[in-house]
Amino acid sequence: MKNYRWGILGIGKIAEKFAADLALLPQARLTAAASRSEDRAADFARRHDAPLHFGSYEALAACPDVDIIYIATPHVAHCEAAMMCLEQGKAVLAKSHWP
Ligand SMILES: NC(=O)c1ccc[n+]([C@@H]2O[C@H](COP(=O)([O-])OP(=O)(O)OC[C@H]3O[C@@H](n4cnc5c(N)ncnc54)[C@H](OP(=O)(O)O)[C@@H]3O)[C@@H](O)[C@H]2O)c1
Repeated sequence: MKNYRWGILGIGKIAEKFAADLALLPQARLTAAASRSEDRAADFARRHDAPLHFGSYEALAACPDVDIIYIATPHVAHCEAAMMCLEQGKAVLAKSHWP
């Protein structure tokens, strides 16, 4: 059974809930978190037991150790972030508020 390595892009309220729920799934592992703030990313990764953290969304999108990325930024930023991740070959989960 494949274990999917998740990343979370943007660290706010829903990212906290998503990470807590992800921990309940046997085939999912929170592998990386990315924030515009390196410190916030490090704190989030430590609290949710993720081995990697990044101070930029670009670094997460480019990370070879991540299979799928949850976009947890505000709606207006979803399209740009999702396209960046898709262009790096990542699967993406995002709500459908596209321009
Ligand atoms: N709140 C809910 O009940 C809920 C329910 C279902 C789905 N969602 C989804 O989650 C998304 C985020 O909601 P949230 O409640 O978690 O919002 P939030 O607490 O404001 O967090 C959003 C995060 O996105 C990042 N971000 C990137 N660009 C930003 C900008 N221009 N302004 C503000 N933040 C920016 C920030 O993380 P960094 O600074 O760490 O980069 C921020 O902490 C929603 O758009 C929606 O798709 C939310």
